[in-house]
Amino acid sequence: MPGVDAARQALAAHAREVGPRHLRELFAADPGRAERMHLEVAGWYCDFSKHRVTPETMRLLAALARARSLPERVAAMFRGERVNVTEDRAALHVALRMPKGRSLVVDGVDVVAQVHEVLDRVEAFAARVRSQARITDVVNLGIGGSDLGPATVYEALRAYAAPGLRAHFVANVDGAALASVLRGLDPARTLFVVASKTFTTVETMTNARTARAWVVDALGADAVTDHFVAVSTNREAVAQFGIDPANVFEFWDWVGGRFSLWSAIGLAVAVVLGPERFRELLAGAHEMDEHFRGAPPEENLPVTMALLSYWYREHLGAQSHAVVPYAQVLERLPAHLQQLEMESLGKRVRLDGTPVDTETGAVVWGSPGTNAQHAYFQLLHQGTALVPVDLIGFARAQPGLDPPGHHDLLVANLLAQAEALAFGTDDPALPPHRVMPGNRPTTTLLAERCTPRAVGALLAAYEHKVAALGILWDVDAFDQWGVELGKRLASGIAGELTAGDEPALAHDPSTNALIRLVRGYRSSRAPSASRPPDPPR
Ligand code: F6P
Repeated sequence: MPGVDAARQALAAHAREVGPRHLRELFAADPGRAERMHLEVAGWYCDFSKHRVTPETMRLLAALARARSLPERVAAMFRGERVNVTEDRAALHVALRMPKGRSLVVDGVDVVAQVHEVLDRVEAFAARVRSQARITDVVNLGIGGSDLGPATVYEALRAYAAPGLRAHFVANVDGAALASVLRGLDPARTLFVVASKTFTTVETMTNARTARAWVVDALGADAVTDHFVAVSTNREAVAQFGIDPANVFEFWDWVGGRFSLWSAIGLAVAVVLGPERFRELLAGAHEMDEHFRGAPPEENLPVTMALLSYWYREHLGAQSHAVVPYAQVLERLPAHLQQLEMESLGKRVRLDGTPVDTETGAVVWGSPGTNAQHAYFQLLHQGTALVPVDLIGFARAQPGLDPPGHHDLLVANLLAQAEALAFGTDDPALPPHRVMPGNRPTTTLLAERCTPRAVGALLAAYEHKVAALGILWDVDAFDQWGVELGKRLASGIAGELTAGDEPALAHDPSTNALIRLVRGYRSSRAPSASRPPDPPR
């Protein structure tokens, strides 16, 4: 087996040979590649044949995975070893979806038993709220992983929600976000879930305080017990906030924020969709976990997704990666994957602290098709940037969301775009501006229908893609130190915006000037609200 350096050199040499080849040529030389280059896992059919790779590329990439000890390092993650080295923690989100009765002992504690204890409480709580029919609206107050994951799942599966029950997700500290949700709600029928791993995140705590005041104003201080629950690892801070300890659902520091939707962080989802659907979601993810843990790199769906991303980023110069779900209900998916991939893989040092000598995380972006086709697909088809695209869709519409004729057009567009991107046009009579060069790579991910199981498996596949890329790049995919400095500076500046006339500002000259400008706008000399301010000179 080659070492890492040899595996990388072999890939670099191979890239010089395969890089210039066109997908038209690759398909002509190997008509059987569509048949061979696909995987079927947990209800998902993944077509990888429209990628600029040959069987030899995949062999060399798998060799790199082995040289990086990927199977062994995945096994270590599943065993609960402290793979998040900079935070000295395990990354055990897979334990959140292990079935009851399985045992995984980490530091002398059976974490699966712990998980099911909380899950049982989540389910009992969800069943109670649903049976009482007093609550009609569940508002999740959380940000980052305490918002994006559950919001993505809720939007994807809201067709399964109990009639008369809705969830709302408020993340931004911009008061407009909370105000616009509260405007339509009745405090007596609203339940707030304060979702924060640390229970110190300023956006969430600010929204939670405002929401608490809204409830207390309308219903009195005693109502907090019935209208607030918390999901956190920080019981002490939750108690200080005034939430009844009986209403706290805990999780553990071995669950990273962006991997936490499967824990009690999914409480709002469990309430609105029901405990049974939540279990199906976890079961779908578990199916993907078992596949990721057991399948060899060559047959492993998340590993293949990772190897392809590595290939484009490292060897073909791609800087970004688009995710285009042909499903309006997956509208939030690109934002969730943005956090998942970019917070995990936007790293510049290796596990041992030395600088990386490769490219790392790509910029992840996207939005639902077909809208995307009328916005940025022009660049994907004829622009100069190479952007691999994940096209995600379902053969059948969700029940109740299927007016006649729509779904066929939706699926037809997905398949047409994959074809057009790969093969373009080769009519020599076309003027240059009409030429579609093709050779634009896509992965097509298709499932029968957008069910809890399918969504669980899809999200878990992306989580494991990220873990595998972390291993290939030898970076810590589970920490996020890069977000800390901005948080610290913001808490200082917040005080300075409202401080008296001119306390010393010790920032750089540009930041100082901007703070003074804001102070000026907010002082008595500020322009009237009805007149837009003059632009600064
Ligand atoms: O922005 C960084 C981050 O720590 C994310 O990783 C996390 O998902 C988010 O903030 C919210 O954190 P918490 O759940 O602790 O409020």
